[in-house]
Amino acid sequence: MKRATVLGTGSCLPKRKLTNFDLEKMVETSDEWITTRTGIRTRRISGPGEENYLLAAKAARRALRNAEVKARDLDLVLVATMTPHMIMPSCACFVQAEIGAGNAFAYDLNAACSGYLYGLDLADKYIGSRPGMKILLIGSETLSARVNWQDRNTCILFGDGAGACVLSGGSRGHGVLDAHLGSDGRLWNLLYMNSPKSCNPALEQSSDDCCSIQMSGRDVFKHAVRAMENSVQELLRRNTLTMDDVALMIPHQANVRILHKLMERLGVAAEKVYINVDKYGNTSAASIPIALDEVHRQGRIKGGDLLLFCSFGGGFTWGSMLMHW
Ligand SMILES: CC(C)(COP(=O)(O)OP(=O)(O)OC[C@H]1O[C@@H](n2cnc3c(N)ncnc32)[C@H](O)[C@@H]1OP(=O)(O)O)[C@@H](O)C(=O)NCCC(=O)NCCS
Repeated sequence: MKRATVLGTGSCLPKRKLTNFDLEKMVETSDEWITTRTGIRTRRISGPGEENYLLAAKAARRALRNAEVKARDLDLVLVATMTPHMIMPSCACFVQAEIGAGNAFAYDLNAACSGYLYGLDLADKYIGSRPGMKILLIGSETLSARVNWQDRNTCILFGDGAGACVLSGGSRGHGVLDAHLGSDGRLWNLLYMNSPKSCNPALEQSSDDCCSIQMSGRDVFKHAVRAMENSVQELLRRNTLTMDDVALMIPHQANVRILHKLMERLGVAAEKVYINVDKYGNTSAASIPIALDEVHRQGRIKGGDLLLFCSFGGGFTWGSMLMHW
């Protein structure tokens, strides 16, 4: 069976950088606190002309160019996002129109920060049944619009951006090898974001905080480390592989301390793990594809390398995936 293989990658970050020093002027915090607790130094914030679908479309055009695939040859445009600029139509439909992918069907999926991995798994299933299919998978977020900029517990963590890849059935020994995905909806209230008007304001009390990200940081931290560790261990075990077989691990970029704990538990050396959370903060579903585009363009991965992705996010959702480049 053919597996989903990456033909090309692209990414797009908004122009505006918001540093920890900028945040010092907005909430009671310090560069020192943010850097030591999270590893984040700057994040990108979208402005006019950088709406979610426009960042996504720019990342998509770059991935198509890199893959040498024409937009009209795409069969599916799939966008992983939890911050579409409209609920309906989907972000994917806007991207389809923007890039001219007239022969594709298009839809969004929301698995919070795990959206991109869930999307890769889905794309792999489509390609398993129709190997010639060309799929554009994008992770794109404008979280800055959904953060309470007076809440120092959350506003320091998140950023905006988009990453994309073009996928199709590859030759033997390339592409997705296996994925392990999990969810636990019982823990939803440890990390969540209400929809605007998800409730009737006449019946429910509304507040300014109503639609912004809410989080129990310490609980999320513990669950994130445990879930990603268990997922990766299970994935390696059932494929009779160890971390020694992995050329590069590309985790969801939430917090450098979560990543260091995870690396310690998995016994993986720092040079085998790609980290860019210092530059972009947590960009949710966009973080893995942005990181993948960076390592690809830096020439850090070569044909046949075994890559390991893992993620954790609201829901809770989590997962890991092995892919031969
Ligand atoms: C959010 C996080 C960085 C907070 O770090 P922490 O060590 O758990 O800190 P706590 O929440 O216990 O807060 C410790 C103190 O720092 C304060 N604090 C919180 N945010 C602060 C900030 N931005 N600047 C300064 N102080 C801050 C708290 O108010 C608290 O003060 P207190 O002791 O007087 O009550 C950490 O819990 C974390 O990274 N969690 C995971 C978040 C995440 O990745 N979410 C997305 C997953 S996809």
